[in-house]
Amino acid sequence: MTHCINPLSPTLGAEVVGLDLNEPLSDAVFLEIERAWQDANGVLVFRGQDLAPEAQIAFSRRLGDLEVHVAKRYLLPGHPEIYRVSTKQDANGKAMGNPESGRYWHSDLSYLDPPAKASLLYALEVPPIGGDTMFTNMAAAHDALSEPVRTMLNGLMAVHDYSYVRRMFSPGFGRSADPNQVPPVRHPVVRPHCDTGRKTIFVNPGFTTHIEGLSRHESGAVLAFLFEHATRPEFVYRHSWSVGDAVLWDNRLTMHHAVHDFYETGGVRHMHRTTVMGTKE
Ligand code: SIN
Repeated sequence: MTHCINPLSPTLGAEVVGLDLNEPLSDAVFLEIERAWQDANGVLVFRGQDLAPEAQIAFSRRLGDLEVHVAKRYLLPGHPEIYRVSTKQDANGKAMGNPESGRYWHSDLSYLDPPAKASLLYALEVPPIGGDTMFTNMAAAHDALSEPVRTMLNGLMAVHDYSYVRRMFSPGFGRSADPNQVPPVRHPVVRPHCDTGRKTIFVNPGFTTHIEGLSRHESGAVLAFLFEHATRPEFVYRHSWSVGDAVLWDNRLTMHHAVHDFYETGGVRHMHRTTVMGTKE
């Protein structure tokens, strides 16, 4: 079957229609997909998938080694490479996946060194309305900064901490992982993309606690400006999910935000995520 690739927004995102990720891809098709992913600024939507866990893992592995998420209770039994993002409960009333996952702007695993390269999120069940995911292009956001601001950011380092998100967003969040197992790490505020060298803003509201060397007041103000700037509508693509969508995003180039607006509709959202580890520059 031939596939086609269509852009989804001017700033980032493209869809791949007619490609079955259960089938092993030839090297030529895989290269084409990698190029399309780069051209789409790090967000590629594979439509109409019926993905077995083994196939999701095999495809993701072609991009690099896979991370086993620190929140162990949400891993898919028998397939620890798959982290479940879900509002479903099993017969015993136990959460089948993280129901709160990603409801704030973040880049997956920015609290590790190196941070994650990519994530592939596959939708098994989606609510009839709502439950979108927003993505923003952090290279475009960087390029839109004025020269004096770029100069100011140059050389600054920011601290990222896994436990920060629950202090900030939800006291109940992340009980499943011991934050002491994940010590804070530091990354450049402006980080060149490992494959393209393109400069990106690499801070996020979920995990970035502060910028080193600035006073608390200065760091808070600079981060608040960068978060507001990077999430301007012209840098954002909002994905409305259909069952069978598998979205591949580049965590080095984008931030994302799950929109948790569907609880009161009684809708169910159930997804499988694989996360590809980054490499040291
Ligand atoms: C995530 O942050 O990995 C989850 C995103 C989503 O549920 O849309």
